[in-house]
Amino acid sequence: MPDMPMTRNDAVEFLKGMDQQPADMNHYLETEAIMKALARRFGEDSEYWGMLGLLHDVDWASTRDDIKGHCIKAAEILGQKGFDEKFIQIVQSHGYAHEEIPALKDKQRTEKIEHALIAAETLTGIIYAYALMKGKKISNMEVKGLEKKFKDKSFAAKCNRELVKEIEKTGLTLNELFELSINALKEIKGDIGLE
Ligand SMILES: [Fe+2]
Repeated sequence: MPDMPMTRNDAVEFLKGMDQQPADMNHYLETEAIMKALARRFGEDSEYWGMLGLLHDVDWASTRDDIKGHCIKAAEILGQKGFDEKFIQIVQSHGYAHEEIPALKDKQRTEKIEHALIAAETLTGIIYAYALMKGKKISNMEVKGLEKKFKDKSFAAKCNRELVKEIEKTGLTLNELFELSINALKEIKGDIGLE
């Protein structure tokens, strides 16, 4: 199990100290929760997977208006914090094949943990939009409803369904991901402004 240079609390405080839009922290916490649940499902290190989820967009404050540096600037920030190359590479992998990031455009995700991260972080947007539609409520959300929203490409249209489908490369089905993610977010609903 790799040693982490920061505690989870330090990481949260570090993120809070950055220039944020209100939805940003929700997205980090949601991605963390889903990654931890995926790690548990796979028998992997949930602290490590959780930290990747929490910090995957660590450079967002400085790259949201200049997307070509997204995931590039992250390497610098995480390196300064003492994260190792492997951790940084996995964070960067969520920008692989992204048309607007020239340095990563030609790279492909190959590892289970990489597919898990991109699927998890992309799915958060659809689940959150669905919860908002249901009056900020996730406690009664079901897989079937999410499945419908997923199939309706006009709903949360910016969330790329193909990226969520990468979960299938880990051996999980989409529905398994939906169920595990809804349950993971139900557990942190109070922290992300839902009920
Ligand atoms: Fe993200």
